[in-house]
Amino acid sequence: MRQRHQKEYFFYSLNGIDKKIIIEDVEVYPEGLGAIESSFDGIIIDIGGRTTDIAEIENMKVKNPFSLPAGTMNLYSDFIKVINDKHSLDLKINDVDRILRNGLKIYGEEKDISFALEVFREYVEKIISELQINYSIKTHDIKLTGGGAVLLAKAFLKRLPNAEIVDNPFFANAIGFKKVGESIWL
Ligand SMILES: Nc1ncnc2c1ncn2[C@@H]1O[C@H](COP(=O)(O)OP(=O)(O)O)[C@@H](O)[C@H]1O
Ligand SMILES: [Mg+2]
Repeated sequence: MRQRHQKEYFFYSLNGIDKKIIIEDVEVYPEGLGAIESSFDGIIIDIGGRTTDIAEIENMKVKNPFSLPAGTMNLYSDFIKVINDKHSLDLKINDVDRILRNGLKIYGEEKDISFALEVFREYVEKIISELQINYSIKTHDIKLTGGGAVLLAKAFLKRLPNAEIVDNPFFANAIGFKKVGESIWL
């Protein structure tokens, strides 16, 4: 970590307005912890863009955290590759949302994509088998958060009836860490 007396300046623009941030102090929190209320005891699964961060929380303490090196971007790229290979297409990652929403049509003809949805189910199975190695998943409450929580929710909830998605999973970490920062520094 950088020395405390060194201030960091960041310049950026948001909606066309130039902003400057001065960072005077930092606090390090595990991914996912921002997304839950302080009373939560259980397992938190934070599915991000390139990592999935998992931890057991007990009395606001993190136990046995681990991280899988995959997230939505890897899943999207595997999903689109499977579809491209099967149908000789050259779809890109930014076609995924549309296909998940509307299905796949080629020259107007609807195509089955259930074989490609297997990519998401397989990843959920992988996460669950890692959970089984590390925790007592039958007896814990489980929360899903992060940008991939909605994408994988259906497959998760089918396998784990004790799982639920946090409110606003796309922003739950950011909102939670803002609160942490306010409670420490404001
Ligand atoms: N509004 C949204 N609608 C659908 N998917 C989203 C949205 N915002 C983020 N995502 C998905 O979430 C991913 C990022 O998740 P996030 O938890 O922010 O990642 P990380 O914590 O790894 O930076 C994106 O790659 C995208 O797949
Ligand atoms: Mg994240």
